[in-house]
Amino acid sequence: MSNWQELESKYFMHTVERIPLTLVKGQGARVWDEDGREYLDFVGGWAVNSLGHCHPVVVEALAEQSHKLIQTSNQFYTIPQIRLAELLLQNSCLDKVFFGNSGTEANEGAVKLARRYGAHYLDGAYEVITTLGSFHGRTLAMVAASGQSKFQQPYIPLPVGFVNVEYNNIEAIKTATTKQTCAVMLEPVQGEGGVNLPGADYLAAVRAWCDQRGILLILDEIQTGIGRTGTLFAYEQCGIEPDIMTLAKGLGSGIPIGAILAKDRASVFVPGEHGSTFGGNPLACAAGYATLKFILDSDITGKVKRVGEYFITGLQGLREKSSLITEVRGCGLLIAMEFSHDIAHSLVMACLDGGLLVNCLKPNALRFMPPLIIGSEEVDEALGILDRALASIN
Ligand SMILES: Cc1ncc(COP(=O)(O)O)c(C=O)c1O
Repeated sequence: MSNWQELESKYFMHTVERIPLTLVKGQGARVWDEDGREYLDFVGGWAVNSLGHCHPVVVEALAEQSHKLIQTSNQFYTIPQIRLAELLLQNSCLDKVFFGNSGTEANEGAVKLARRYGAHYLDGAYEVITTLGSFHGRTLAMVAASGQSKFQQPYIPLPVGFVNVEYNNIEAIKTATTKQTCAVMLEPVQGEGGVNLPGADYLAAVRAWCDQRGILLILDEIQTGIGRTGTLFAYEQCGIEPDIMTLAKGLGSGIPIGAILAKDRASVFVPGEHGSTFGGNPLACAAGYATLKFILDSDITGKVKRVGEYFITGLQGLREKSSLITEVRGCGLLIAMEFSHDIAHSLVMACLDGGLLVNCLKPNALRFMPPLIIGSEEVDEALGILDRALASIN
């Protein structure tokens, strides 16, 4: 057998501290390494494997579509992208869609759309207000949008047009709004930044402010969308509607796809102003359609709500046992557990040893993003492994 990990260090740019585990197979919420050892996967490809690994509806959709048509240029009509567009728009508050390949790319497109809106209706306003602790992606513009210095510092000078203000503080948004502001862009729940939940009235207040100023509200639902928080989109839980919403991650259940959705009045691109070679290709859209249809037809969001609550209750139970745990927070199956010390990495390794994959969110916090199809048995199993992992590093 090749030593894949040695070959990786020889050939790859060192952009990620990988976990010493080579995965070769996945099924449902489980993955296997090259020695045949099984793990319960509560990382879920960073909130991507919404239906778990190799779900039959996705596998069948891919197999069927791959025999028919994989890629054409977007100058031609293709049926899978139109079917996916219709399903997405019928089940959201938005009217128009553009398909790309990733979350970052969807956000770039959303900001471009907001700038075009600013050019049409707001005297050329171009600035986008975002929040500290947010994460919107890795391109230079999205690094400028993401309010975290660890992503920004290495790339200064950054593109202009972004103002980062405190999250959960409507006054900060009001103060930062000028004649140059065309939009506010937010994650309904900050994912990568810590699973930070919005205050009770925050998103409604932001919506009201955007309405008052005539500027756009962009919701980045790349991590929270497609059922992750217990409703198809997180905005549904706040009683507001965005003007623009971005999706990616869970939409293709593992197949790369991103989307910008917009209300009619914000949908101001004209031909030539935006585009993509691969975006909306028939293969990715077939996976997206199969994923979304299964989520809608099988009440996956109801299940996420129930299993998510069960999981949070179990994690609270661990908190009562271990003084190392200071907080459990989350929504649906996007959950963080915070500790009094920087033990998250050691816990990741101890869980790995026990057969559970979890994500190190911060030196002192773990994040759980399991497939949306897990049941209480998998949660019980994960809680048992976590309990033993915590005991081992106490
Ligand atoms: C909220 C949010 N926006 C954007 C992105 C970037 O998505 P991608 O990695 O697909 O470019 C992420 C990825 O973690 C994310 O969580």
